[in-house]
Amino acid sequence: MINIPKGTKDVLPQDSYKWQYVESVAREVSKKFNLKEIRTPTFEHTELFLRGVGDTTDIVTKEMYTFRDKGDRSITLKPEGTAGAARMFIENGLAGGVLPQKMYYITPAFRYERPQAGRLREFHQYGVEIFGAKGADTDAEAIMVADSLLKKLGLQVKLYINSIGCPTCRANYNKALKEFFAPHLEELCYDCKTRFEKNPLRLLDCKEEACKKINVNAPSILDSLCEECSAHFEELKDYLKLSEIDYEINPRIVRGLDYYTRTVFEFVSTSIGAQGTVCGGGRYDGLIKELGGNAVPAVGFAVGIERLLMLMENVGARMPEEQKPTVYFAGMDNACRKKAFELCAKLRKVGVITETDHMERSIKAQFKYADKLGAKYVAVIGGNELEQGVMNVKCMATGMSVSVAFADVEAYFLGK
Ligand code: HAM
Repeated sequence: MINIPKGTKDVLPQDSYKWQYVESVAREVSKKFNLKEIRTPTFEHTELFLRGVGDTTDIVTKEMYTFRDKGDRSITLKPEGTAGAARMFIENGLAGGVLPQKMYYITPAFRYERPQAGRLREFHQYGVEIFGAKGADTDAEAIMVADSLLKKLGLQVKLYINSIGCPTCRANYNKALKEFFAPHLEELCYDCKTRFEKNPLRLLDCKEEACKKINVNAPSILDSLCEECSAHFEELKDYLKLSEIDYEINPRIVRGLDYYTRTVFEFVSTSIGAQGTVCGGGRYDGLIKELGGNAVPAVGFAVGIERLLMLMENVGARMPEEQKPTVYFAGMDNACRKKAFELCAKLRKVGVITETDHMERSIKAQFKYADKLGAKYVAVIGGNELEQGVMNVKCMATGMSVSVAFADVEAYFLGK
């Protein structure tokens, strides 16, 4: 017996309708915001993530699925969707078209993390990227997309916002952070000692208890913002107010990826345990240039679909029931089963969900099976019925039966 790899999950036949529902709501919301779907490869050149996501992040240093292909190229399974979307934007010259370019994706992503509830090695994201607009109104619009999706799914999730400034004010903040952390250097974990040298902002993102304890007293980045970044953050707050979206400012949010500038945000739930962040995103004005394009501002976010489903389950969010068969055709013997098969084929052609027996069950067992499937009607075809060209249709909810001619099968069941 070969088991499923650690940190991955099957979607079973009885559960796939939940995924389809969430994905259909995500597509519906995307349409309202005029976002167009994109699909980028599951794997990219490793270099894209080294430069895009950042070589001091946990994702790049510890979590990537990287391998050499038969042509000796270094390939990586995408750990997130933004870098691939940015590469696509540059490679296809989309900056030369009408801006902004607004897009969304639903994609698997891969990170070699320690699996736990809500943390997988293969997971799925619904993500949005908006390229070409630099204003805080666009940040608010991205947040509004995520907010609309969560609300449409019946979820109440708290929004935290922050600004991590631009390279200029970040340099000032990094200096302030270094001054603060220098006396604590010995108490920091091994990784944080490297972060201290290479990228002090990452110190605030450490999951180690000892580091977290020191972090609480670290200076706030909001005190280091330059005038333009401060103004951008104020504008964002105005636009969120206009959108009637509640938020809380959390200066500790720095995100786990290096490409962010100015606005960062997370939607965090307290109902699904330690991995409560269902959505994360922000502005990334430097990424397109970093990857070889022109300086094009951008903003986006991604929602973890597994975490979303977990949250919906935990809070009992309403989910439309899976569509059940309208009619189950039960045949008494082989000849009757053949007729049932034929009538099924006819009805499916006009879009009616039908089912029939494939297991040579008795009529009684077929009724039981039809009930289990949740069929609204059971149409019984016995020897007499076959001769007379009719079937006996029983409504499972009322128990009432009527005789319907084979010739009228479409007319009878269409719209039922
Ligand atoms: P992220 O915060 O790394 O951001 O991931 C976004 C969401 O993906 C998380 O909030 C979480 O719901 C889900 N997620 C992340 N890792 C896992 C995991 N191991 N298991 C299950 N779910 C997970 C990004 O990926 C950015 N690309 C978002 C973005 C788009 N920023 C700008 N544009």
